[in-house]
Amino acid sequence: MKKLITVFVSICISNFLFSQNPLFIPPSLTGTTFNLNIQRGSSVFYTGTSTPTYGINGNLLSPTLIVHKGDSVSMNVTNSLTEQTTLHWHGLHVSPQNDGGPGQIITPGNTWRPSFIIRNNAGTYWFHPHGAGKTERQVAMGIAGMLIVHDSIETSLSIPQTYGVDDIPVIVQTKEFDILQQIASAMDMDTAVFVNGTLHPYLTAPAQVLRLRLLNGSSMRSFYFGFSNGQTFYQISTDGGLKDTPVALTRLRLSPGERSDILVNLAGMSGQGLTLKSFSSGLPIGIYGSSSLGSGIDTIAGYRDNFLNGADFDILQINVTTATAHPITSIPTSLTPYSPYPYASAILTRQIVFDTLRALPIDRPNLASGPFGINDHSFSMDSINITTHLGNTEIWSLQNHTYVAHPFHIHNVQFNITEKSGGAVPQSERGWKDVVLVMPQDSAKFITRFADFSDPSTPYMYHCHLLHHEDDGMMGQYLVLDTATLGIVSVTEPTHISVSPQPVSSVLSIHTDRQAVASVHAYTISGQEVFCPFDASDHLLDMSKLAAGLYVLEIHIGTNTFRKKIIKE
Ligand code: C2O
Ligand code: CU
Ligand code: CU
Repeated sequence: MKKLITVFVSICISNFLFSQNPLFIPPSLTGTTFNLNIQRGSSVFYTGTSTPTYGINGNLLSPTLIVHKGDSVSMNVTNSLTEQTTLHWHGLHVSPQNDGGPGQIITPGNTWRPSFIIRNNAGTYWFHPHGAGKTERQVAMGIAGMLIVHDSIETSLSIPQTYGVDDIPVIVQTKEFDILQQIASAMDMDTAVFVNGTLHPYLTAPAQVLRLRLLNGSSMRSFYFGFSNGQTFYQISTDGGLKDTPVALTRLRLSPGERSDILVNLAGMSGQGLTLKSFSSGLPIGIYGSSSLGSGIDTIAGYRDNFLNGADFDILQINVTTATAHPITSIPTSLTPYSPYPYASAILTRQIVFDTLRALPIDRPNLASGPFGINDHSFSMDSINITTHLGNTEIWSLQNHTYVAHPFHIHNVQFNITEKSGGAVPQSERGWKDVVLVMPQDSAKFITRFADFSDPSTPYMYHCHLLHHEDDGMMGQYLVLDTATLGIVSVTEPTHISVSPQPVSSVLSIHTDRQAVASVHAYTISGQEVFCPFDASDHLLDMSKLAAGLYVLEIHIGTNTFRKKIIKE
């Protein structure tokens, strides 16, 4: 019944109370010190109703931060909510302490003060909360903002760079409202389409080349962007910055977390109008936002009741007016050279498998609704799932065993997709990326390098950027260790687990004063998993086949993972 009412209300809101609103352009903040106050507020989305929202320095969303590559920036992030939060700089290459993941909690009333150098290339990045289990709620309530990086390469190009004039932030989010017009958890009925927090927006744009910085900030939904008049547009960037050349497109898919700047040439179009739309009828099934998800009993209840799923709908009306004084009127032919990491420089391949979590006590896991895990693990603050090494270049091979597409995101690094669905990488996904959508029962590979930052105990995250999946545990933690210091800065050794003998030549015995050890994984110090048989009844690990050297054991006890360094002789 609740669902029917929600459907009815949503349809009323979308079709009968329709009125156009000028697109809100978040004010910009520049400089090197940013004071960000995460606060509660309220917004009027529907005439006569005030809806509680969260924002940064305001009622909803955040000012846009505009920085330059090489800047040394300081952030003062104050939590004025009544609940814990965090603020993560999505896409930025910063140390794990500055990253704003679930380890950098800001308790109510406190201020977090990260500071870092902007090392990223010119591009569109963003920031949002990353609290364990609460990301979806806090993002949906309105905590998110755009971070624009400029650099000298970009400045030398003839592309629009005047914020709010020919360079427009386009933060696209769908939200779900309950019957009282409160923001609900966006699961099935996210039927309200927002740009920059504006419902039914229109933009008055000059008749020249317009840059739209598209950011999919939705909890679950992918968009398939295109224009109502069929006009060709030009993709000039991926998540981590400019492409080598603009790619002419009529459709562009972005999944949650992904960004792309596009150029659309409105020269000579003064007085005309066009609409940025999502042509979601063209999304392959299995992607949130397409006409259908899952199969058989592995499906999502109510998915088909959402009238946006599989439909073509409006995102942003654009009314073209006269050009500015010195307009850009043509699309550049080249941007910036693209040199991906050479494939042969990868020293190892990691297998990353998305699947439903096994061994759930009551519920049968559902291949469409989860819960999902990565490599059979659910997120735990106490577990380090992957240990890698400073300077490593690695291939991450992602395999999706489920019926839904998952946008995989990794913190700290940008990567180059090397393979998609076993084949070539689409033009629109060539470039620097930090999110890759892995289709249902399909695969993708990327290459990346863990440069600059290492820490023996503060991990980075990797996860599905569907925020409910992330909140439900489809996330893991990885440490970047520096071999040069590994010998002295050890992993934090659990005191209640001991091993003998040390060094070991064949069989290692694991002693614990707690519950039984469920499993043990062994890794070289460069993070490559090595196989050694484990006898769970006697807690014996056969390391006889391994080469001599230093290894890190991951010891799984209950839902916890402990790490120990082992010397094999
Ligand atoms: Cu945008 Cu870990 O997230
Ligand atoms: Cu991120
Ligand atoms: Cu997912």
